[in-house]
Amino acid sequence: VEHPDPLGALPPDLENERQKLEEIFTVDTATLQRITERFGQELQQGLEKQGQNIPMNITWVTSLPTGDETGTCIALDLGGTNLRVCQVTLHGDSSDVQVIQERYELPSKLKNGTSEELWSFIADSLQQFIQQHQIEPQDDGTLPLGFTFSYPATQDRIDHGALQTWTKGWDIDGVEGQDVAAMLKSAMEERNLPTKLVALTNDTTGALIASKYKDPDTIIGAVFGTGCNAAYIEKIKNIPKMKLYADSRGHEGDDGVMAINCEYGAFDNSHTVLPRTSYDEIIDRESPRPGEQTFEKMSAGLYLGEIFRQVVVDMWRRGVIFESGSDSEEHDTEVDGIGDTSNHNDVRKETKKKSIDEPYIIDTGLLSQIENDQSDGELLLMRHVAQLIAIRGARLCVCSVSAICRRLGVESGHVAADGSVAIKHPHFQKRWEVAVAEVLGLERGKIKLTGAEDGSGIGAAVITALTMSKRG
Ligand code: GLC
Repeated sequence: VEHPDPLGALPPDLENERQKLEEIFTVDTATLQRITERFGQELQQGLEKQGQNIPMNITWVTSLPTGDETGTCIALDLGGTNLRVCQVTLHGDSSDVQVIQERYELPSKLKNGTSEELWSFIADSLQQFIQQHQIEPQDDGTLPLGFTFSYPATQDRIDHGALQTWTKGWDIDGVEGQDVAAMLKSAMEERNLPTKLVALTNDTTGALIASKYKDPDTIIGAVFGTGCNAAYIEKIKNIPKMKLYADSRGHEGDDGVMAINCEYGAFDNSHTVLPRTSYDEIIDRESPRPGEQTFEKMSAGLYLGEIFRQVVVDMWRRGVIFESGSDSEEHDTEVDGIGDTSNHNDVRKETKKKSIDEPYIIDTGLLSQIENDQSDGELLLMRHVAQLIAIRGARLCVCSVSAICRRLGVESGHVAADGSVAIKHPHFQKRWEVAVAEVLGLERGKIKLTGAEDGSGIGAAVITALTMSKRG
């Protein structure tokens, strides 16, 4: 079990707090295993019927890339902060992919604005991209487009998707329950754009296919970012709910495969196994969709900072921290030196003027003050809390993947991951690989976290090419 770095002696009240926090945020091996087992059950339930905790969405991606795919298409990626528009050209060789791209910052009010504003923004940006890069339609007068939509959607076909619910704090009226592909199409038509939507895909499905395109050892495409989720390839014969689509099953028969977008952020919405703290409960209550995405709210990037803030505010309100400085704002001040000692806050202001190079600048009072100062202990405690929250998040994140590995019976392979937490957090990868080995009882490194290829650009393009070649 990974613990945060050991701390030196803290004052008793802080030590007391530290112990309580460590207790509620630590997830031991046995708990991880229980969670993984339950994860396995919920994955299975999602494959059986609609309307379960984990939706296990059918993506209609029914073939795997070979690397030979060719063609040019536009990929639209609606992320949490940006809209990215790319032109991707595949040359039939996975090491030779051309991408031209632009990012358009999403106005922050869009996230809880109206459907009309959302689709106008997307189609206007697309129009701007086509004009700016002078992109010409292909011979048939159209431009194939792959749309990466990183929210849960029920798909009847690859170019259709009814939004099940907004996640990651988005809350735009009039889109839930609607076909987002049709909404995008009509916004493109209103502007007479030549783009023709071929495939709607999730960011995890994109990560899976883009990574598989280059690396055949890829078993899972995952995103550990603002949200968390994964996609993998399932045998159609192991998906009982496929019978709902009997007529669309076509010639794939029992030998066919289907990429599944798990949407596992919704794991344990019935609260049976996750060790939720009161901080997790507050975050859920105050989110736009209480009761949803229980797992995501404990482990994804959108929430880790907010969990930290909840802990800090709670300790502050109870008078455990920030006592010496009268209110929390003063603690935002940068401390970068030592200075006059007349009063705690002046220490910070004076530092800019005086330098430690100056003899006798340090009054003996400063030594007393340093020994009396609780803020060092407070800072150490904060670092500890940051570690506890990040370790818990990384450890929880292995349960989903471990359950998928168990289902597939794989004991080695690559989990291609994208997202800010996977890529930017300094210790996520190590923590994750250690914990996955711990849960599955494997040697460390057998299940490896690899950086996903650009799933929302290249992945969407490969899926678009696969879809078009299937249509012939
Ligand atoms: C949320 C979305 C899911 C997406 C994930 C990562 O969980 O519901 O569709 O894959 O975030 O972006």
